[in-house]
Amino acid sequence: MIELHGAAAARPPLVVLKFGSSVLRDRACLPEVVSEIYRIVRTGRRVIAVTSAFAGVTDALMRESLATGCAHDNVNAPAYIATGEEVSAALVAMACDRSGLCSIALKAPELGIRADGDPQDATPTALEAAILNAALDAHDVVVVPGFVATDASGRTVLLGRGGSDLTAVFLAHALGAERVRLVKDVDGVYDRDPAEAKGALRFEQIDWRGAGEVAGRLLQTRALDFAAARGVVVEVGEIGSDEATIIADKAKPPAFRARPPKLRVALAGYGVVGAGVAQRLLARPDAFELASVLVRDGEKSREGALPRALFTTDRDAFLDADADVVVDVLSDARAGAGLSAEALRRGVDVVSANKQALIGSHDVLTQLAATHGARLLHSAAVGGGAPLLEAVAAARGGAPIAMIEGVLNGTVNFILERLAMGQTFEEALRAAQAAGLAEADPSADLSGADALAKLRLISIAAFGVASCDVCVEPLTQHIAAHAGRERLKQVARIVREADALRGGIVFERAEGSAFADLHGDRNGVRIVTADGRVHTARGRGAGRWPTTESVFADLVDLRSARLSAAEEGMKVAV
Ligand code: NDP
Ligand code: HSE
Repeated sequence: MIELHGAAAARPPLVVLKFGSSVLRDRACLPEVVSEIYRIVRTGRRVIAVTSAFAGVTDALMRESLATGCAHDNVNAPAYIATGEEVSAALVAMACDRSGLCSIALKAPELGIRADGDPQDATPTALEAAILNAALDAHDVVVVPGFVATDASGRTVLLGRGGSDLTAVFLAHALGAERVRLVKDVDGVYDRDPAEAKGALRFEQIDWRGAGEVAGRLLQTRALDFAAARGVVVEVGEIGSDEATIIADKAKPPAFRARPPKLRVALAGYGVVGAGVAQRLLARPDAFELASVLVRDGEKSREGALPRALFTTDRDAFLDADADVVVDVLSDARAGAGLSAEALRRGVDVVSANKQALIGSHDVLTQLAATHGARLLHSAAVGGGAPLLEAVAAARGGAPIAMIEGVLNGTVNFILERLAMGQTFEEALRAAQAAGLAEADPSADLSGADALAKLRLISIAAFGVASCDVCVEPLTQHIAAHAGRERLKQVARIVREADALRGGIVFERAEGSAFADLHGDRNGVRIVTADGRVHTARGRGAGRWPTTESVFADLVDLRSARLSAAEEGMKVAV
């Protein structure tokens, strides 16, 4: 969660994402949906995620309700049918938590979504906006079951088949959202169904009526009518891309759009993070191709379903795998730095979570990236799944930064909390290792070296320089004994004083701290800018899924940027 506080703080922009049953096919699709939400949240936006029921569920519920009640006007059927959307909303909210997104699922009655008319085909008319805004203020994402509302008597009603589209457009209009995006399994509106017709042409822009005429099966026409009547611009796009058809008041002729090539990924490291990244890449064979996986031990038995032939211990063979991007999730700083440098030298993009490699060779790597026109992304290296570097960049974009403080090590935060609960140091450390939070050698966490590397990367993002005096307190037995008596937090801080930077990583009492409520593996930062504004960001700071989320978001952004560049290139060529 990224937030801005203070007198000048306005609510961050709101994006409404609607996930239909073409993307919410079953529970296996939940990680994809979470990633789409995550990549919007990390840009500092609030998200409402409107869900459809999983594929086939609404039909099954309708059949059951017809068999059970009076077929022609069963007033209680909508409440039963609505459970399809309510279940998927609850599951999306739970899946968000795994990646560190602060989420809540709220049902139509809780949000006061009112609708009038036919109970199976009602039209939304009102909403308790204050309730939804309060939920958005407290969470990264509010998940709302689509298709459902209540009538004046409090009875559940439905918004017609495909009514989740109408819920999304209605909420976007009621709350003045920046964007409303209907997320489908196609990248926009085509003149014919592209799954059935070869050579179907895609609209970059189409008007509301035209969209209803060509895509009545893809979009709910009542939602389009609602949008047209209120001037709501609607996007239709697929997961993992910023490309979309814009549905508004004007149309452009459709054009042929070649399916974009897959991003070939060479993955260095197959441990806690690497195996998570591989799993996510394999789930998107349409968008990504795993070219090679570099490991240290060729004999180790490996989790997951990767073909053995993909693994190599040969660095040169790995680099020759003709990848578009190298992902560095190695636990070895020297090996990671060398690999990233060689990839960048070859013009190959790099996504890295290897903070020690990054900080040890920062200038060389950024210089190589600039010289060879490659990109170096490293969101996961600081804060795991918590968008801390993104918050620093956003704050710096507004005004010079005066001070940053944060909890930057999930393992230490986790251990301190367990100590306060009465566990021994050894028990707490073992639990952090079992949860995949600690480094391969946990001494980097305990000595403060891990937090220091992150503080230095933050310093570069905030002030343009890594070097400053930082006094680092390690987590010793003495501190651990203290933490058993009183709740402590490890706080990393960097302050600009005149022309100098001063930093420290120290243990402070949790009580009264800005980070008192940051539990377990959570990380967070508080950034104060020279104009007095306070920016905050938090999330899960370590572990397989939060870190994978952040690496995956960098990969999706790289792919999306390549697609946009290719589109632009095609326009210039035309
Ligand atoms: P693991 O120890 O679980 O996995 C490390 C992987 O790197 C293993 O697959 C290992 O191979 C491979 N490896 C290590 N050295 C070499 C080498 N010299 N050549 C080839 N392969 C090598 O680490 P994590 O997945 O936990 O962390 C990976 C990186 O991500 C680290 O840099 C860490 O700091 C960073 N990170 C980790 C987070 C976390 O929560 N775990 C969060 C944010 C960042 P093999 O399997 O054969 O041993
Ligand atoms: N070991 C690190 C931590 C992993 O516990 O914070 C995330 O960088």
